[in-house]
Amino acid sequence: MAKMALSLALGLLELALLSAVLSAQKIGTHVAEQHPEMPLWTCSALGDCTKETLTVVMDSNWRWIHDGQYTNCFKDGAWDAMLCPDPDTCSSNCHLEGASTQEYASTYGVHVVSDGLMLDFVTATQYGENYGSRLYMMEDAATYKMFHLKNREFTFTADSSQLHCGMNGAVYFVEMQADGGLAKSSGKNEAGAAYGTGYCDAQCPHDLKFIEGEANIIDWNSTSNPPVGHYGACCAEMDIWEANSRATAYTPHPCDITGLERCEGVACGDKNERYDGVCDKDGCDFNSWRLGDREFFGNDGTFRVNSAKPVTLVTQFITHDGTDSGDLVDIRRFYVQDGKVIQNSEASMAGVSGDSVTDQLCADLKSASGDTNDFKRKGGLKVMGEALDRGMVLVFSLWDDSVSDMLWLDSDFPATANPTDPGVSRGPCDTTSGKPKFLRATYPEASVTFSQVKVGAIGSTESADRRLGELSV
Ligand SMILES: *[C@@H]1O[C@H](CO)[C@@H](O)[C@H](O)[C@H]1NC(C)=O
Repeated sequence: MAKMALSLALGLLELALLSAVLSAQKIGTHVAEQHPEMPLWTCSALGDCTKETLTVVMDSNWRWIHDGQYTNCFKDGAWDAMLCPDPDTCSSNCHLEGASTQEYASTYGVHVVSDGLMLDFVTATQYGENYGSRLYMMEDAATYKMFHLKNREFTFTADSSQLHCGMNGAVYFVEMQADGGLAKSSGKNEAGAAYGTGYCDAQCPHDLKFIEGEANIIDWNSTSNPPVGHYGACCAEMDIWEANSRATAYTPHPCDITGLERCEGVACGDKNERYDGVCDKDGCDFNSWRLGDREFFGNDGTFRVNSAKPVTLVTQFITHDGTDSGDLVDIRRFYVQDGKVIQNSEASMAGVSGDSVTDQLCADLKSASGDTNDFKRKGGLKVMGEALDRGMVLVFSLWDDSVSDMLWLDSDFPATANPTDPGVSRGPCDTTSGKPKFLRATYPEASVTFSQVKVGAIGSTESADRRLGELSV
């Protein structure tokens, strides 16, 4: 039970007046879409990196959807019955609206900062409040950037200092289509990646308003939090960084499928069918606290990684033979802060050892904590590596968790379990700390910053050789 739905928690901005609607996920014409810039460094060796200025796009679920004029297709968690009597009519009546870069900031709280992005937790507008965001890196105006991470490393700098217990500033990869599902939607999706369509992840989220261009209105439950539809969208997910100022984890989630699968019933793995679905919802999480080191990551200088300051993290995808075609066998991590390299923590839970994600560590962790090893059943690292090989889309998000209050990341989970039992305690946060209503009212000014995103050959994006003090100034 390591993690619950990504994407489920965020409030969706229902703009009563702002803009238009898409048909078959058509494109609204009130506001021209402008993607905020974000640089990416691609490295072949240490000191040999090329900087490109790419962009990011806001996910479609946050956007205003309307009839082409000013009538909402979706408002207060519910679909308009006239515009959306059935999925196809709904898709063809409803338009997805663009946003200017100014609106990315003023409506969604997405700000361009030096070499990166700052995401705000709560943004108040005249139309209501926006909660968090989810953005995808683009290759060009209509295509997501595809990352192929096997035998590569991925590096960025996170400032999670302003994120409280219950919040999650996340950087991860999912196996979305590069065009946002445009080609596979047989004309139902005209918006595509340019408007942030085609999301999926290993939790098979049901809160997506459109899946493969089709409106998810069947059995739509507007009183559920978040509102959910009949279908879910599953795909492999590699979580690089799920964190607030108190806890962090990195977690592969392999799936039995290739690319996005629209699921229903058992395939979605909902509730008591959790381990019968197509994706490994729990994943194999490397959370230093959970694995026994409670002095590793925290929000002051007593911790080896001090979340009160920005930290650079390097994640390496090691293959068995050191080639791009080899099997993924290890996901390694080190940190750099104040010019010093900080090695990852060593697991010290009884029966578990190691400082990285291997199939062995995962098996030992599941066994020690009494969890089902669904990670192994879904193929473990080898199958995760196959998704990395096919190509995955880079996601930046800030969210809270209306399903389980983020307790799986930073507190005792399940909350009713004995916190001294192996694997139950994942961080120092109280089991009552992560309620979205409380967080949104109490910490509206919270934000996270992600910057200096780099990808390249193992050893190319950061030196792992710096020793304590060597580079301090
Ligand atoms: C909708 O969701 C709520 C809250 O989870 C639940 O109590 C209710 O039974 C659901 N309604 C239907 C029709 O499934």
